[in-house]
Amino acid sequence: MDVFRIEGPVRLAGHVDINGSKNASLPIMAAALLAPGNSTLLGVPRLADISVFKELIDQLGCKVERREDGVLTIDATKIDNPVGPYDIVRKMRASVCILGPLLARCGRVEVSMPGGCAIGDRPIDLHLIGLRQLGAQIHLKNGYVIAETPQGLKGASIFLGGPYGSTVLGTANVLMAATLAKGRTIIESAACEPEITDLANCLNVMGARISGIGSPRLVIDGVNHLHPVQYRVIPDRIEAGTFMAAAAITGGEVHIGHCRLEDMMAVVDRLRIIGIAVEANGDGCTVAGAESFQPADITTQPYPGFPTDLQAQFMALLALAHGNSIVVEKVFPDRFLHVAELNRMAANLRKEGSAVIVAGVKKLVAAPVMASDLRASAALVIAGLAAEGATIVNRVYHIDRGYERIEERFNLLGAKISREEGGTV
Ligand code: EPU
Repeated sequence: MDVFRIEGPVRLAGHVDINGSKNASLPIMAAALLAPGNSTLLGVPRLADISVFKELIDQLGCKVERREDGVLTIDATKIDNPVGPYDIVRKMRASVCILGPLLARCGRVEVSMPGGCAIGDRPIDLHLIGLRQLGAQIHLKNGYVIAETPQGLKGASIFLGGPYGSTVLGTANVLMAATLAKGRTIIESAACEPEITDLANCLNVMGARISGIGSPRLVIDGVNHLHPVQYRVIPDRIEAGTFMAAAAITGGEVHIGHCRLEDMMAVVDRLRIIGIAVEANGDGCTVAGAESFQPADITTQPYPGFPTDLQAQFMALLALAHGNSIVVEKVFPDRFLHVAELNRMAANLRKEGSAVIVAGVKKLVAAPVMASDLRASAALVIAGLAAEGATIVNRVYHIDRGYERIEERFNLLGAKISREEGGTV
């Protein structure tokens, strides 16, 4: 099992280009299943999660090819096994987003019910409520969700809000199914995340009729069929925000290219409050850290609020602020496994329910730490860049799920990170 050895502190400087979005690529790969024929997706990042999804699509009976340059082709001419098996879904719960497209395309789908994960319980009740309202009959058997549409799908008015607001993959599933349903579907309280906007734009290029894109009210007029597509996915705003937090914590100056600042207003707002300069230029921005920076309160929320996927990285940053901050998690109230690990590096964080009080400290100190999930691992790497000494981050397979060669890219900016074999299991 690989570990990262991170020598700190360093000051990051230089240029980095952001890759295509993981969380846009996954549902868009699922959308390709709606149309028989060959679809080509551009800008798909080379990540472990994309490999798992490729494996899933391959075993449906389709053929997926992935090139080094981020081009991914999906031949969805034939789907003879509309099943999402346990062995794949347990590796990546986003596999659940084949439910909607396969139901619409094949009239029947079986997907292993995803379990909880390090960031929370993560139920899929809203996905199922939405699909049932489109006419699906759904039951659970041997841990599998079995969804069928003996009569075909029919448009409906659906409210998709839950206890924590909208659902990203739930919206993706219902939206994809509705494109081929008879008549009009209205999804109220739809997720507005840029990844859902990207999915809806891609579906429209495939021949779907979706309006209200980017708003919480999506209107979908069903069509008889969709056609294959060539589509470029948007840049990854979470990867961009991770590099921003890294530049800031090291007092560095990094130009971040291929970054859509307009999708990141809540993040830019918090950075400026903290005292970090963010200046738009070219197809991205320059982020310049300061020697000492200010505390800030952060509350995660569905888009356009501050993203939960950057909560851990910004907590690492605030750990070194000149004063106290409060971080409130309103999307995944238990997503705090990084707190105890950051405290091992001499941060002063106190968890109170779904909030963490961050008392800024003067310095972080290197320690061996344990990655627990993708974004928590990114936070530990960011902390390691600023900490004095050699930080060892165990279980970096978590970070490989969502960041492509992160250590090499940080090293080009002046970091000293080596990937080494062995480490705590
Ligand atoms: N929820 C329900 N019922 C549902 C679905 C969700 O109660 O049926 C709750 C969840 O438990 C959570 C909240 O609603 O409290 C939001 O969950 P959501 O469904 O939006 O999350 P998701 O679609 O499963 C995606 C991303 C996550 C990201 C969240 C929130 C992908 C592949 N995953 O998950 O990304 O944190 O939206 O923005 O798009 C990551 O990339 O590290 C990651 C975890």
